[in-house]
Amino acid sequence: MPGLLLGDEAPNFEADTTQGRIRFHDFLGDSWGILFSHPRDFTPVCTTELGRAAKLAPEFRKRNVKMIALSIDTVSDHLAWSKDINAYNGDEPTEKLPFPVIADAKRDLSIQLGMLDPDERDKEGLPLTARVVFIFGPDKKLKLSILYPATTGRNFDEILRVVDSLQLTAKSKVATPVDWKVNIYRATTQCCRAALGVEKDSS
Ligand code: BEZ
Repeated sequence: MPGLLLGDEAPNFEADTTQGRIRFHDFLGDSWGILFSHPRDFTPVCTTELGRAAKLAPEFRKRNVKMIALSIDTVSDHLAWSKDINAYNGDEPTEKLPFPVIADAKRDLSIQLGMLDPDERDKEGLPLTARVVFIFGPDKKLKLSILYPATTGRNFDEILRVVDSLQLTAKSKVATPVDWKVNIYRATTQCCRAALGVEKDSS
């Protein structure tokens, strides 16, 4: 069955992107990674999402997370659309985004990764990409996946929040409670630490 489950290793695919051809494992290196798909270039919700992702790129960089987007359009579409995204952000309308965008025009990768939305189709009746988020750890294993339909935009602040939780729980034996954020709810994190059998907060 196509798709990825928690703990699966990221496939080491090759792809054309707005920043040249990549091999995924080389792209990730020793970093954390986020691969996020969107349905189509030049569409309103996708423009707001990639605009927000571009604005938050310094936050992902601070957390050592490499970002990469994907849709079923071509590199030249992605580059032309990047100008709209930058303009939407109030920035100079250049073709440069702070992360590469994969061109999956033949949908090979979207099929392999289980990223298609059966309910949203193009003029030819072919499915568009859903709004998938895959977060990989430095070991290249899948740590989190979120799957939204094409018609629902994501919350990138929530994605940063889960990165913080994933990175914390990777290094300390804790679990983060409802609505947890870094430096807030320290007491409740302490309570979840106790539930996991760790008595003292040594961090
Ligand atoms: C959008 O980005 O606006 C969009 C894309 C596909 C389906 C619905 C909305």
